[in-house]
Amino acid sequence: MAKNQQYCIPSHVAIIMDGNGRWAQKRAMPRFVGHRQGLAALKRIVRYASERGIETLTVYAFSTENWQRPQEEVNYLVNLIHETFSKEIGELHREGVRIVLVGDRSTLSSDILRVWDRAERITAENQGMTLNIAFNYGGRTEIVNAVKNIVTKALAGSISIDDINAELISEELYTSHSPDPDLLIRTGGEQRLSNFLLWQSAYTEIYVTTTLWPDFDEKDFDKALDSYSQRERRFGKVPAKELTK
Ligand code: IPE
Ligand code: IPE
Ligand code: MG
Repeated sequence: MAKNQQYCIPSHVAIIMDGNGRWAQKRAMPRFVGHRQGLAALKRIVRYASERGIETLTVYAFSTENWQRPQEEVNYLVNLIHETFSKEIGELHREGVRIVLVGDRSTLSSDILRVWDRAERITAENQGMTLNIAFNYGGRTEIVNAVKNIVTKALAGSISIDDINAELISEELYTSHSPDPDLLIRTGGEQRLSNFLLWQSAYTEIYVTTTLWPDFDEKDFDKALDSYSQRERRFGKVPAKELTK
């Protein structure tokens, strides 16, 4: 990096944690072993992101489409995510992390919701990193819900059609408490969004690595931050240096 170039840390990092199944397959092991290792990688990265001063970390843990996987895999994954979080809440709380579930609550069982409600309640006042867990998350469902809420308000007369703008839509999303992500990391090499943060990623910088999620470590996270720091975000405008010519 050039000497006087500022090293810019993203304030909101989102991660599509992909590649657990392939990690296991490469070792001739069942997919669930990959999920177990994936959760270990998540613990590592949550701690490290917080140490690096990331203000918001949003991780894609389970999509609305992932319910279509074989029942055995779904059960394993859902139990694993909840057992891990139940165990980790205390530690995350001590580290000042605020946990928020971003996903469709309306279709989750009361057992599952209880875990998230408790995590959110205990950590609500924490001033450290916000950890958004995208569980039962789908970008299209999120936008559909936002539209329904807005139409309900419009029909009730509490807002008018002219009040509907991009800010209002953002306020109706599961992520209303967070700014849009600055950097989106996808592990496992696929170059797609898979229904993640469709609205919020309008101007997000994308970083894809072929590293499979269970192998993703602090060095890989630093590589993504380095790449981000070298990007020029233009938001549709002309680069700043062109204007001074
Ligand atoms: C990501 O790993 C975990 C979830 C989708 C929940 P995958 O299970 O999708 O792993 P691959 O993509 O099949 O390797
Ligand atoms: C995205 O990965 C979902 C999560 C990481 C939770 P998928 O493995 O489900 O995505 P596709 O099927 O490759 O698009
Ligand atoms: Mg996958």
